[in-house]
Amino acid sequence: MNTDSNEILIRAEQVCKRYGDREVLHDISLEVSKSEVVCVIGPSGSGKSTFLRALAFLEKYDSGSVFIEGRLLGYVEEGGTRRLARRAELREARKNVGMVFQQFNLWPHMTAIRNVIEPLIQVKNLDKKTALKKGHALLERVGLGSLADHYPAQLSGGQQQRVAIARALAMEPHIMLFDEPTSALDPELVGEVLQVMKDLARDGMTMVVVTHEMGFAAQVADRVMFLDAGQVAALGSPHVIFRETTQPRLQQFLQNYLERNAFWND
Ligand SMILES: Nc1ncnc2c1ncn2[C@@H]1O[C@H](COP(=O)(O)OP(=O)(O)OP(=O)(O)O)[C@@H](O)[C@H]1O
Ligand SMILES: [Mg+2]
Repeated sequence: MNTDSNEILIRAEQVCKRYGDREVLHDISLEVSKSEVVCVIGPSGSGKSTFLRALAFLEKYDSGSVFIEGRLLGYVEEGGTRRLARRAELREARKNVGMVFQQFNLWPHMTAIRNVIEPLIQVKNLDKKTALKKGHALLERVGLGSLADHYPAQLSGGQQQRVAIARALAMEPHIMLFDEPTSALDPELVGEVLQVMKDLARDGMTMVVVTHEMGFAAQVADRVMFLDAGQVAALGSPHVIFRETTQPRLQQFLQNYLERNAFWND
């Protein structure tokens, strides 16, 4: 690894992806430094989820590269050519990447604490006592210490999403990727999940967050990336993106957002 790149945890280089003859990601490049928070915004269908999934190699892209902590993800370079990584190689290369999605994907037949500790026992091979101790501490951290024995169906959406975050954190990731973690929630539950994410950011977690919550992006992001039709149409500090941009598509996107949300403020 290049010593200059020690602090760069994610490096995407010219990632391109097409579905059929439609290019959904066009030459997307992004470097994310340690402890940096990058929020990804953009219209529906602009490629935000596809890009986030590419960062974790949840789906293949057609050209370009993604390096996680200096290591190529998804492929192995051998003798000047690239081959797809084997399942175990991929698992190893992305073990420091945690992911949280719009749908919470908890195991419905397991309590909150079991959801959190299961990967610790299965993947990290911790004994049950150690896993429980760690799991309870994580549930405390996301404000759910008293609900450890509840099943997902007995938790609100916001609580379920916080269990999902605790479960991802249990693996001690160096990077957390979020894809619209609050967009399936009732409005009054959004704040509690965003607060957990703010705390994580404050504690120095490196994060890429696809979000429709412009307030969160403005407050928490170090940089904001605006994707439009599969391209990086703007990338900069929240101040530049939300206050100073002259990019017409971004201006239009923000105007639409303000109009939609003005409804709630009236
Ligand atoms: N499996 C697929 N097959 C074909 N096209 C797809 C597939 N997945 C996504 N697409 C297309 O790729 C484009 C980008 O989709 P993507 O889900 O990344 O958008 P997005 O920015 O996350 O949108 P949203 O805000 O609605 O979540 C869209 O036009 C979508 O229709
Ligand atoms: Mg999406």
